[in-house]
This record gives sequence, C-alpha cells and structure tokens, in this order.
Amino acid sequence: MTTNTIEINRLRYPMDDGKPVWLFGYGSLIFKADFPYLERREARIEGWSRRFWQGSYDHRGTPEAPGRVVTLIEEEGACCRGMAYRVSPEVFTHLDFREKNGYLRFMVAMHFADNRQTQGLLYIAAPDNAAFLGQAHESEIAAQIARSRGPSGPNDEYVLKLAEALRELGDHDSHVFEIERHLLGEE
Ligand code: BEZ
Repeated sequence: MTTNTIEINRLRYPMDDGKPVWLFGYGSLIFKADFPYLERREARIEGWSRRFWQGSYDHRGTPEAPGRVVTLIEEEGACCRGMAYRVSPEVFTHLDFREKNGYLRFMVAMHFADNRQTQGLLYIAAPDNAAFLGQAHESEIAAQIARSRGPSGPNDEYVLKLAEALRELGDHDSHVFEIERHLLGEE
C-alpha cells in the first residue's frame, strides 16, 4: 500500500525563511527522536485522540501483512499529551521520508506545562489515506499487532515503548493501555 506523501508535504507548509519550527510528537516521536533538535518539552494538544487505526506497511508490518501504528482522530473535549521539539526545517525532510506512508503535516495549537501556547506541526494519517485501517476492538488490534513485524522491528515493541513513554508523561491513554494489556496477556 503506497501513498507517497513526500511531495504533498513539502508543499503544504513551505519553510523558506529557515526559522526553527515546533513539532508535536504523539507516537513514535515521543520515544524515538532520530533527528537533531534545539529544544524538547512536554506538551499537549486539545481536541484529538490517539488511535491505532493506521496500517503500517513499511515500518511495523509489510504490504502482505500490515501492522498498526497511531494516528490522531478529532474528538471534542479530548486531550493528547506528547513531546514537542523545536527543530530546524531540514528535519522535516527526514520526517517526510520516515512518515511517507499516508501521513500529512498539519498545523495545530500546542500547549506547554506552563500553559504557554504556540503553533506547531504534527503528522496525521487521515481516514481518506490508502493505508488507513480504521476502528476495531482493542483485542483485535492487539492480535494484529502481535503477529506483525516490519523493517523497523516487531509491532508489539512499538506499543510497549509508547505505553511506557505515556506512563512517564502521565497520560493515561486507555486505548493504548488496553492494547498493551492484551499484548502482555493480562486479565
Ligand atoms: C508522532 O509520533 O507524532 C508521529 C506519529 C505518526 C507519524 C509521524 C509522527
């Protein structure tokens, strides 16, 4: 499943002035920052929920057996905690490549712990992208994740690392923790 978004993303938010930009991470970017950054701060965004509804054909699964990774779904009253990074524009070239399977850049308001607010970019895989798998019961999502692996490693490793990182952030994400519980075989 390939919907290569690199060119679309490059045109969405041109950063011709070369100034640093805030990037909000809510998934693997929380625990895997494989890029240089100027500043890293805990942050939250409002009106979005994290969901394992995006198929992973190139990282945690394969075209024949896709895994599942997170995207954001709009939900009134929801709050999603994550990690914000202030980065130079070149970092987006790297991220556009890393997240090329269906994720688009969006601009959002992000809030820091001291309630200061700023605009920043994040990546969302919207329901109309070709790799979107959509809603399923957490037990089914966990079963798919348990049997999936791809070039970036086993899919369950992604969930376990994310759940651990969210615990450190104090984000009680019941969707993620429920999938983790199934993967660990807990009753
Ligand atoms: C993130 O961790 O914010 C992220 C999730 C999916 C794609 C790109 C970034």
